[in-house]
Amino acid sequence: MKILGIESSCDETAAAVVENGRKVLSNIIATSLEEHKLYGGVVPEIASRRHAESISGVVSEALSQANCTVDDIDAIAVTYAPGLIGSLLVGVNFAKGLALASNKPLVPVHHLRGHIASNYIDCELEPEFLCLVVSGGHSHIVSVKDYTEIEVIGKTRDDAAGEALDKAGRAMKLAYPGGVSIDKISKEGNENAFQFSHPKVSDSIYDYSFSGLKTAVINVIHNAEQKAEEIKTADLAASFQRAVVDCLIEKLELASINTGAKKIVIAGGVSANSKLRSEAEKMCKKHGITLSFPQLKYCGDNAAMIASQGYFEYLKGVVADESLNAYATMNIDTTSF
Ligand code: KG4
Ligand code: ZN
Repeated sequence: MKILGIESSCDETAAAVVENGRKVLSNIIATSLEEHKLYGGVVPEIASRRHAESISGVVSEALSQANCTVDDIDAIAVTYAPGLIGSLLVGVNFAKGLALASNKPLVPVHHLRGHIASNYIDCELEPEFLCLVVSGGHSHIVSVKDYTEIEVIGKTRDDAAGEALDKAGRAMKLAYPGGVSIDKISKEGNENAFQFSHPKVSDSIYDYSFSGLKTAVINVIHNAEQKAEEIKTADLAASFQRAVVDCLIEKLELASINTGAKKIVIAGGVSANSKLRSEAEKMCKKHGITLSFPQLKYCGDNAAMIASQGYFEYLKGVVADESLNAYATMNIDTTSF
């Protein structure tokens, strides 16, 4: 079964054709990232305009590289939540139009479920597993009981891990996105140079909180500026990255022990982080747990992951009609649309 996936929740306009949820026939991504760098973050209005300009060409290219036409497609899967509303609407409306014109089923896909599905691509991974989903907008620990059955175990109370890395990177005057820059520069830094205490969430053992850590790093920079002291950015970046990764791994480890997880999966943009990957490997080895990451090219936003999840949603009978809307926020365990 061939699924055409469409993704436009942030600044990537993407389309892909994936066979049976695991075999990628094409994966096209156009991004407006370079334009946003100027402003140190994604400007929603610019992102929406670029989606509207690119979507038609991106979808045509995805079909052509997969050597097919829309007639060969079994269903059209589209990200409908969560994300920037103006951006999401471009993808949803395009997918609705295409589904209606070609008489194909329309499958709504939750963006974070798509990130989880990036781990099914080119491999045999099957639920059940414990998953850490870490992106620019979300940080969750979830139990994936089945492809479409997800239970939230913990989530961030404030900033997402990627958001904290991006804001810290900005305060360190590193290029956007800060997460990518921090990962790179940390390789030359001493991760023990600065100590950051781990935030506690008093009423939950699995929930995260990153806004305090973000403020702490900004304070270090301001204090040094006021005293005209020089800080080695690589040391500060490495120490901050270590604090974020330690927090992520600590609660993931606790959740895996308490739930008796045999498999752990990491997904979302931050899953590309080299420190997170190596610490997760150590932790899983210690407990004899199997670990999966997406291939680096599927960590960030892409449509192959949406087509993959779309396949499993479609098998479960998830199909929308032309009244489908886009939503800026939506819980990952929501099953209605
Ligand atoms: O999943 P994603 O592409 O978009 C959202 O759904 O938000 O995630 C983007 C986030 C950004 O915060 C970016 O800084 C972070 O992923 N990111 C990284 C790395 N690559 C991307 N963070 C740390 N290390 C990386 N190598
Ligand atoms: Zn994403």
